[in-house]
This record gives sequence, C-alpha cells and structure tokens, in this order.
Amino acid sequence: MLRDSTGKSGGFGGCLLKREMAEEAILGFLQNHEEIADSGEFAAAHGIDHSEVVNVVKSLHGFRYVDAQDIKRETWVLTEEGKTYADAGSPEVQLFLAVPPEGISREELQKRLDPSVFKIGCAQAGKNKWVEMGKQISRKVQHVDDKVKYMLTQIKDGQGIDADSIKALKARKLITPQTWKGYVVKRGPSYAPKRKKAATDLTRENLQRGDWKDLEFKEYNFSAKGPPAEGGHVHPLLKVRQQLKNIFLYMGFEEMPTNNFVESSFWNFDALFQPQQHPARDSHDTFFLKAPSTTRELPEDYVERVRRVHEVGGYQSRGYGYEWKRDEANKNLLRTHTTAVSTRMLYLLAQKKPFEPKKYFSIDRVFRNEAVDRTHLAEFHQIEGLVCDRGLTLGDLIGVLHDFFSRIGMSKLRFKPAYNPYTEPSMEIFSYHEGLGKWVEIGNSGMFRPEMLLPMGLPEDVRVIAWGLSLERPTMILYGIDNIRDLFGHKVDLGLIKRNPICRLGIN
Ligand code: PHE
Repeated sequence: MLRDSTGKSGGFGGCLLKREMAEEAILGFLQNHEEIADSGEFAAAHGIDHSEVVNVVKSLHGFRYVDAQDIKRETWVLTEEGKTYADAGSPEVQLFLAVPPEGISREELQKRLDPSVFKIGCAQAGKNKWVEMGKQISRKVQHVDDKVKYMLTQIKDGQGIDADSIKALKARKLITPQTWKGYVVKRGPSYAPKRKKAATDLTRENLQRGDWKDLEFKEYNFSAKGPPAEGGHVHPLLKVRQQLKNIFLYMGFEEMPTNNFVESSFWNFDALFQPQQHPARDSHDTFFLKAPSTTRELPEDYVERVRRVHEVGGYQSRGYGYEWKRDEANKNLLRTHTTAVSTRMLYLLAQKKPFEPKKYFSIDRVFRNEAVDRTHLAEFHQIEGLVCDRGLTLGDLIGVLHDFFSRIGMSKLRFKPAYNPYTEPSMEIFSYHEGLGKWVEIGNSGMFRPEMLLPMGLPEDVRVIAWGLSLERPTMILYGIDNIRDLFGHKVDLGLIKRNPICRLGIN
C-alpha cells in the first residue's frame, strides 16, 4: 500500500525544489510514454535520487495522478568494512604496497599498518602469492591490481558483478544483501501533466467567489503528529521536597511557616544562645541587609531574658559573661538556617498554657556567604525536623533519626559527637552509601540547650530533639548530578528539568 506522505508539511526550499523537479520529470515522462518501467532506472537516467522519486510517486499516487506497482530486487550493499576498503584499498594491497622492494621485517611492517589491516592483509596477500611470508617479508610479484577495491566500487555504484566475485566478497563479509524497492508507474485516473496545487484551507473568499467547487483540497493527514504539548515542569528539588514532606506528614509532623527569608539576628542567633562574637555572625559568613538594616520589633520581656542568659546565665548556667548588645541582635540578615523558624515556633509554643507536645518540620531556603564551588552555593534548602515533649532523651533522638532516614532509604546510620552553640549533646549523622562504599555525612542533630528553651518559658522538663540536613545532597544523589550548579542557579539546563523522572522516595 502506498500512503500520501505530503502531510509532513514543508521542508527546506532546496528540498521542495528537488521534489518539484522530480514531480515534473515523472508527470512529463508519462505524457509521452505508456509507463515508467522501473523507478530505479528512471531515477538514474534523470539524475534524481531514487528516494526522491519514491516520495513523489507516493504523493502522486495519493491524489490518483499515477498508479504504481511495487517491484523488488535483491541487491548487494557494502558493509562498514567494505566501505573502508572501497575508499582506502583492500588490506592485501595496502600490505603489499607497504613492503619495500628490498623486503622488511615482520615487526617493522606490523608497525606501519593498522592491526586489522596487517592481519587480514598477511592472510590474503599470502594466499594470492604476492609476498613471501617468513621472519622477513618480501615481494614475489612486481605489481598487483586491487580487484577487491574495484568490485566494491562497482557495487557501490549500483553496477552488477559476476557471481563468483559476489561469493568471494560475501564470504569476506564486505557486502550484504538488501532488498531494493521501486515501482512501475503508469498514468492514474486523475492524471494531468501538471499537478493542481491542492488547497489547504477553505476561505471566506472561496465561498463568496464560488471557486470552492473547482478547488482540489488536500486530504487530512490523521496520522501526522501534532506539536508536542508544553507544560510546566517540576524542578527535581521540588520533587524530592514533596516526597520528604509526605514522609514527615506520615510521621505526624506539622509544617512550620518558612515564608520569611529575612530574619533578625535575634531569632537567627541570639535566641539560639549563639554568642555575638561567634564567627558565623561575621559578614564573611552571613548576608546582612542594608535596607531595612534592623528589625522593627522583638518581644521585649523575652529579649531581656535572652540578654541575661548570654551575660550572666541562669537556669544553672553561667552564661558567656560578655556585654550583650541590642544593636547586634537588631541587625537584619538572610536567615542562615531554618532553625531560626524553629526557634520562633518554640517561643510561640511556650506562650501556650498548658504545654502541648509538638512535632514540627520545615523544608526551605537558607543563605550563607560562601565561596561557590561544585558542591556549594550561597543558598540552599534545609530540611529540619524537631520533636518537643516532656522528658525526651538522646535515645529518642536516635530512634527518630533511624525512623526518618530509613524512610528515605538510609537504614545504616552512625553518629559522631559534634558541637553547635544551641544543642547539647550534638551529633553529626553519617549514612553508609552503598554506591560509594563509604560513610558519608548527611546531617546534623542535637538536643536544644536549656539556655535556649528555658528563657522562652517552656516547662523545665520539656526537651527538644532536632535535626537538619540539606535538600540538595539527597537530590543530587538521587538524580545522579555531581555539580550543584547543574541543579540550581542560572547555569541550569532547562532540558534537564523537563526530562527528569518523578521522585520515588518513600514509595514502596
Ligand atoms: N541548624 C543546623 C545547621 O545549620 C542544623 C541543626 C538543626 C542542628 C537542628 C541541630 C539541630 O546545620
């Protein structure tokens, strides 16, 4: 069956022109001749690509300008190896030409030739008795003809060769059979020496003038592909974030509101019992805001309790013993961790009486003034979880961490003592990475200090266990991305975002 292929609209000008020329040649020929007996010979005689003739015949047949009958022929085409010999000559001739009249040692000859040319060349040239094969290789004849190359070229040009040669080339896997398809072409029921241009649209003018009656309309091509539908694409970070959100929700955690990137130093540092001289509070590590450079309001009585705990301690702590400055606490910054949000939430919780235990989480952006490299950006996303209840212990923290991380596929965990100004004890979290075959650091955790919790007004026996990790690290591992700049920022290839699969974290 022939099918109209003109539905694939257009092509470039050059292609269209070629096609028009082929069409003219075919229709013109049929005006004076009964038939085109062989589309292949016709194409060769008119200097047109056979594929072009085939396309035009299919199209003309669709509009019944011509009738076409299939013809098939078994032909031979060159294999990849055959093609290289048709260009560079057969290996036996290449080898023969590399042997100088005075002879050459085997090693030296081997150096001069491609290994496969040497191997095949030795075998064939030996068989043809062109060379004497020993430790020393020398010529036995003066001159050789490259019959193989000649035959391959003949086949390439569509010329026939004798059966014995075919057999020989086939045995050497230099040619392979192929079915050639062409047509016998005759005038069809709607034949005309020139094609009427088929109309693609029925216009208002066609209707008014009445010329629609004479127009020939192009048939609908129902098998043509429409333009691909473009839609939004979810970024891999957001895919992983959604799965993590689900995991937290399954575990009974509530999401904290993280919609303020700008925070005061007070909530980001002071309320966390982080001293004002701490290096993280330097502008080399933290982005401070120029305008508005300070916060408008803070809960004054709580600020006073925070000041006291820094300066002189209390709650069985000795404090840091330095002069706490309100100006330093007022400075606005881009939050350096989502623990600032956790702190606000714990403060609000402390104001509720009676005390209510809570499980909170957040996943959002934080900012640090860092040198950018393949694993660091000046901004990233933090995943943070906390549990606030009476009498919690380090054992509870370890248990929750095992529960959480096993849900994201990390069930082998190890902990290492660490230091945070706001937690005691603190633990770095390591997970065994099966792919890398080693332990990798995946997060940070701890129990919030009494110096942080008691000034808020939480009951004395309330403990808070918490942990934090980056969203980028697991996303890069899951999606096999090793440069963070390929994941986030202005250098990201949108194609990568469009093609990424869904995230299956937490789905069993
Ligand atoms: N805020 C910590 C960080 O920036 C993470 C953390 C959260 C540590 C909670 C302990 C407890 O890395």
